[in-house]
Parts: sequence; C-alpha cells; structure tokens
Amino acid sequence: MADRYDWVLRGAAVFTPKGLVSADIGVSGGRIAKIGDIRPGSGAVEDNLAGLTVLPGVIDTQVHFREPGAEHKEDLATGTAAAAKGGVTAICDMPNTKPNTTSPETLADKVARGKGRAWVDFGFYMGATAENAEDLAAWENLPGCCGIKVFMGSSTGTLLVDDQAALETIFATGKRRIAVHAEDETRLKARYALVADGAPVSMHPVWRDEEAATIAVSRLIDLARRSGRATHCLHVTSAAEMELLRDRPANMTVEVTPQHLTLAAPDAYDRLGTFAQMNPPIRDARHRDALWAALRDGVVSCIGSDHAPHTREEKAQPYPKSPSGMPGVQTYVPVMLDHVNAGRLGLSDFVRLSSSNPAEMFGMTGRGRIEEGYRADFTIVDMGAERTISDDWIASRCGWTPFHGTRVTGWPVITAVGGRVVMREDALIGTPKGEPIAFDPV
Ligand code: DOR
Repeated sequence: MADRYDWVLRGAAVFTPKGLVSADIGVSGGRIAKIGDIRPGSGAVEDNLAGLTVLPGVIDTQVHFREPGAEHKEDLATGTAAAAKGGVTAICDMPNTKPNTTSPETLADKVARGKGRAWVDFGFYMGATAENAEDLAAWENLPGCCGIKVFMGSSTGTLLVDDQAALETIFATGKRRIAVHAEDETRLKARYALVADGAPVSMHPVWRDEEAATIAVSRLIDLARRSGRATHCLHVTSAAEMELLRDRPANMTVEVTPQHLTLAAPDAYDRLGTFAQMNPPIRDARHRDALWAALRDGVVSCIGSDHAPHTREEKAQPYPKSPSGMPGVQTYVPVMLDHVNAGRLGLSDFVRLSSSNPAEMFGMTGRGRIEEGYRADFTIVDMGAERTISDDWIASRCGWTPFHGTRVTGWPVITAVGGRVVMREDALIGTPKGEPIAFDPV
C-alpha cells in the first residue's frame, strides 16, 4: 500500500539543510516523514502552499511570560498565543517571575502551568542565585529546564549575581548553557544618580552606558574561557561588546534582538518615549550598524526577542519609574523577514539564527531543521506579503508593540507545532497543546 500521511504540504519552497528546494512534505505522528514528491491523495489533510515558503519552526530562546506573579502583564497562555500568531513554534521563558524560578518546585510548577494552556512548545530557565549555586548541577536535567540564567546586572525583578565567588561557583557547577544578562551592577549603581531624580528617557543609554555592558561582557568572556562552560551572552547592544566578542572562546554564544537591530536612538526615544526603554538599552545607529556587521561576520549565534511586556499604564509612568522592557515575540518573524527582504541578511542566515542554532545551542535534538525524522514544527511565511504591524494584531496581554505602524514585507501565515496547525492567517486554530521541550540530557 502507498504511504499515507496525516498532513501533506504541497507546492511550497521548503528550506532544508541543503537550502531552498521545491518539494512536498509528508507529516505523520507529528514528525516529518517524507520530503519529496508525494502522490496526490496520500494525506488525510492536504494543503496547497504554492507561493509560500516553509521554514523550520522559529525558536525564541528569550521571553518573559510573567507567570506566575505578574499575569496582569502576560501569562503562559497569552504569551504563547502571541508566539503562535507571530510564527514562533517554541519558546524558552526567563526565571524573573514571582516567585523567581530558582528551585525544582518553582520549575515544576511552571511546567504544569504550561500543559493544556501553551500554544507552542516551551522550556524554562532556572535562575541562578548565590544561595542555589551549588545545587544547579543536580537540577539542570529536570524536565523542561532549558538552561541557567544569570543576571549580572539588575533589571526587572530581584534576580542578581554580581559577586565573583558566586559566579565562579555557578560556572563550575553543571553543564547546561548559562545565559547571562551582562551589565555591570557596580557601574549601574554608581551612575543611577544621573537619572534618579527624573530625566528624559533618552538618558537611559547614558545611565546604562556601553562601558557598563563591556565591563560585564569582558568579565563574562574571562569566566567562560577559564571554566569552559557553555555560556550565552544575551542581547548584545554595542560596538565595543562585539569587538570583545570577536575573540570569544568556542564555548560562548551570542544573541541579538530584533529591537536592537531595528530601532535606534534618538529616534526611538523621540517617537516611543518610555515605550522604547529596555535593558540593555536601545543605543544609537553606530551601535546598531556594529550589531549588523557582527551578525554578517558570524559573531552572532542567535536572535532572541527578549519579549518583556509591561502594561501601557506601567510604561507611561515618568522615567525612571517606568519599567524596562518591550514585547517582541510576535513581531520577531515579520521584523526579521523585512530585514531579509531589504538584503540585510540572507534567508539562510535567518534560519540559522532563529532555528537551527538555537536548537543546537540548547540541546533540542530533532528540532530546528526540515529533515526526515525531525519534529514537524514549521514557520510558513509569505515572503512577498506587505503588511502594517499594528497594536490590534497583538495577542500579548499588554496589547501594544513598539512596531505599531511599521510597514513590513514578509509575514508568517501558518504556524505548525508537532504537525498541528496552531495559527493560520492571523487566527489561532484548535486548542493549546504545546509540550515541554525534551532537552538532551547533559
Ligand atoms: O528590559 C528588560 N526587561 N530587560 C530585562 O533584562 C528584563 C526585562 C523584564 O523582565 O522586564
């Protein structure tokens, strides 16, 4: 008998590890069963996708979905709905929740909360503290644990480790990748006086300056080099950091965000005010150009959205009372596809930075590529679609995006997770069945 599939995707351009090919895809049991010519009528469901491009599912390894503790900003249901609407098939969520995710119990609680409520697959970082540093090795293989998170500089929430001895212990304890927010706490504290009594939000990158970032990044490179530990430098924002990271050890990976690749001072602060405030800050165009140069030179390993929603009311408070962070998981794909269409990066770079590299870096074997046997996670896009991003498309509970009014070319039209369509033409489909990602044991 001829092969039968649960779902056949026909006629699209398919991004395989060999590049773009014209092929059908047969999906069975949530996995990619065949790539090639598939006889008509072999699928229980068949989709004609002529004119569209099937990319491996986008994996966003830096989001803050706020649950538990700040569900008025976001929760796992609304955050993952935003992911699905934006073409993202898997997310890794940060530990600065309330309580912080710093123990097996708080991690298991988040995994349980995701089941039956998440639209896409999920993993959670374990937050490192001076107190739990010696326990991390015993916890890093717990179900749903994607990695360890360290805040070297304080940001939203109470997580912070800037003590050298505690950092040394964390880097020496365990194997899973450590993702680090690298801003120097001592310098941030010393310079806070610049803004403490009120200041224009354009002072945000002056307070949290390039030097604060480079001090922490050079300390981090040193820790990574001496420990040999898999280390991930989150949201790099400046030219000087990228210069340092050109000489990073092989065990170190580097993230940039779509916001830092797209927005720049002073324009972002003039247009968006405190809604452009995030940590580390949006800097001027010289820095943005340096991020692009580093991306083209292979210094950047992945793109993460740092989706960090706050309500409009919270963001509208006068600086510096206004919290730092902006949503980004839903706009990640359209904003980056627009950059692809503008020639700033190739489609193969996008796939590497959004899918295959994140899967490899965080030990998600069987994801991140369109290959037979791999999980059927697809970000299906219309590279030619012209759309305007608007607040009313946003599924995040915060209900706004810094890209409101931005015209883009390239749009996600179908999101499929484990062979199930969860978004088609901007509408969520079915019920939330996202699963905890099974990370490779370390
Ligand atoms: O701007 C930011 N907001 N940077 C962070 O590091 C944390 C995030 C948040 O959770 O709000």
